[in-house]
Amino acid sequence: MPRIVLIHGDITEQDVDAIVNAANSSLMGGGGVDGAIHRRGGPAILEECRRLRADRYPQGLPTGQAAVTTGGRLRARWVIHTVGPVYSRREDRSALLASCHIESLRVADQIGAKTVAFPAISTGVYGYPLDEAAPLALSAVRGVTTDVVEVQFVLFDRAAYEAFELALSRAT
Ligand code: APR
Repeated sequence: MPRIVLIHGDITEQDVDAIVNAANSSLMGGGGVDGAIHRRGGPAILEECRRLRADRYPQGLPTGQAAVTTGGRLRARWVIHTVGPVYSRREDRSALLASCHIESLRVADQIGAKTVAFPAISTGVYGYPLDEAAPLALSAVRGVTTDVVEVQFVLFDRAAYEAFELALSRAT
């Protein structure tokens, strides 16, 4: 089980092997952390996203799956793009959110990344409540057999940091 570290900060500044992007299925960028990563990482990331769409995901990257590109100008060597579920009160999409973490770590193992930083996937534009997303994300990561030695959750705002801190305290 990888060491889990919580950081209150900007994921684009993290010095890790791979950072995970909360993308949308188009992989063509967006707002939030997606926008920050493309802005900071530069056009090389989008160029590889275009190739991913052309070669492997003509219909778009499905929710819960993950795909890797260069980190471009970021300190991280790679960006692992994953598409979180949009929150629904009617339908339980927790398995899809867990899959984002499991699949991202599977891709990390494929490329040999040993340190991986996650944002709080789906908790922004996609509306997932932090008190549901935080324990879900932590238990998904804790349940994975992986060669990754350190997983960071990089939380941009205080509310997200506190939600993950509470969930981590309850998990240990
Ligand atoms: N570093 C770390 N976390 C960040 C950063 C950053 N630079 N910028 C935003 N966040 C946080 C948000 O505060 C939120 O807690 O990332 C979390 C996820 O929010 P979003 O980026 O809105 O992602 P998500 O909710 O998964 O929605 C994805 O938003 O940006 C679009 O293209 C993206 O359509 C996709 C959708």
